[in-house]
Amino acid sequence: MSLSDHIDKNRLPEHIAIIMDGNGRWAQLHGEMRIFGHQNGVSAVRATTEACAELGVRFLTLYAFSTENWARPQHEVDALMELLVETIRKEMGTLVENRIRLRAIGNISSLPAKCQRELAEAIHDTHHHKGLTLILALNYSSRWELTEVMKKLALNVQDGLLSVSDITETTIAEALDTSDYPDPELMIRTSGEQRLSNYLLWQLAYAELYFTPVLWPDFDKEDLYQAIVDFQKRERRFGKTSEQVKVI
Ligand code: IPE
Ligand code: IPE
Ligand code: MG
Repeated sequence: MSLSDHIDKNRLPEHIAIIMDGNGRWAQLHGEMRIFGHQNGVSAVRATTEACAELGVRFLTLYAFSTENWARPQHEVDALMELLVETIRKEMGTLVENRIRLRAIGNISSLPAKCQRELAEAIHDTHHHKGLTLILALNYSSRWELTEVMKKLALNVQDGLLSVSDITETTIAEALDTSDYPDPELMIRTSGEQRLSNYLLWQLAYAELYFTPVLWPDFDKEDLYQAIVDFQKRERRFGKTSEQVKVI
């Protein structure tokens, strides 16, 4: 029996965000170079994406490369960029088959030209798909995103297009890279690390956090179902009391 049978399809998280972590440790366990772990992480991306599409989750955001990841050894960065191009190319079939719309958040214009081209093409070719929206966080970090938002809003104030008193939580949310998407209700991080690593700090304000020791290349559909089952057992109170939010 699959854990998916325990999922209430009427109470699915609309948006799931994942920190795909543990590729390096997975490779080390297998006596291989770190890049071997990244390569093997691709099957987990496919499995997770397919599972979300099949269940009817509307949005899935995957942290694929952080602004901090540039600090890794150059050969690992190069290999990751190459893997990104290759994966987008190879996985077009999965995107088309499952009617998945690809999008990206982050400082995309600072990625190597080849990555930008491949990404732009895949985003264009899938823009009409009505199934799951798969959002890749690439060269992304929350502090970078929030800094950009502040610059944008400050410029608008300076140019007289916006007054300070009109700045609300909505104004800020609409200036974020994620303005087209609802906030994630569930954030999953693999590999046992329990931190956010500069990921969606604004958007995860009220998300349920789920940490699993499973290393990303080993993460499969059942692991995703497990996270959703756990999510559905939680009581989301949003500041209220338990009595107030009890569904009778
Ligand atoms: C996550 O796995 C992938 C990226 C950050 C690109 P890691 O490469 O961080 O794996 P560990 O944490 O070193 O095991
Ligand atoms: C976060 O993982 C970034 C991605 C998964 C792309 P890291 O492995 O880079 O995070 P830290 O540095 O250990 O916090
Ligand atoms: Mg890591």
